Amino acid sequence: MGLKFLLAIPVLIFAIGYKLNSLFEPPPLPKLEEDTWWGLGPRNDTMYEKLILEPFNITVHEQYLVGWRLATHRPLTPPLEGIQQQYGMNTNLLRDIVNYWGSTYNWTERQEYLNQYPQYHVFVQGLGIHVVHVNPKIELGIKIVPLLLLHGWPGCVREFFELIPKLTTPQEGRKYMFEVIIPHIPGEE
Ligand SMILES: *[C@@H]1O[C@H](CO)[C@@H](O)[C@H](O)[C@H]1NC(C)=O
Ligand SMILES: *[C@@H]1O[C@H](CO)[C@@H](O)[C@H](O)[C@H]1NC(C)=O
Ligand SMILES: *[C@@H]1O[C@H](CO)[C@@H](O)[C@H](O)[C@H]1NC(C)=O
Repeated sequence: MGLKFLLAIPVLIFAIGYKLNSLFEPPPLPKLEEDTWWGLGPRNDTMYEKLILEPFNITVHEQYLVGWRLATHRPLTPPLEGIQQQYGMNTNLLRDIVNYWGSTYNWTERQEYLNQYPQYHVFVQGLGIHVVHVNPKIELGIKIVPLLLLHGWPGCVREFFELIPKLTTPQEGRKYMFEVIIPHIPGEE
């Protein structure tokens, strides 16, 4: 009885160790069907076969900008006394944000900033993807290496804007530059 009990301990420790170890292992990769159609509606073979990069710029027309809507919002209910964000957004903070978006934020400037790098719209197996693609200027003796940069969640291609010039211009002591391809993860645009 006592011996069996003693033998059971190492077995138990091994089993627990094995289970714990499996928690830190990466899960198996999901299997993707190679010819999945990701588009809306039934599969369209013409669209499936095509891989067209359409040049794209962000252009939000003035009439869709919400400045006037922000200026004419209903009066905000004052927050409870001594309250921060316990019951949702504090309306004192919300008022500052509304004022900022309505009068200080300059969409035209932002739009120019966001359009500074070449962007494209591409369909991959029916799924529309927005991608920033910057090709460096070819320089003698410098190798160009393609580099795919992917943002996380929540996130967007904007996170890489400061990095792009460092990757696509010659740097001292480096014999390579990058051609950067930065897609927006679908659903995050
Ligand atoms: C497939 O999509 C293309 C481009 O949108 C369209 O011109 C064509 O009519 C579609 N074909 C079918 C079978 O729906
Ligand atoms: C995007 O904007 C740039 C700079 O103004 C311009 O050169 C380019 O032709 C535009 N592309 C498209 C697709 O509108
Ligand atoms: C917004 O930015 C654009 C482009 O930089 C500039 O021409 C315009 O004067 C700015 N508008 C305001 C209200 O500052």
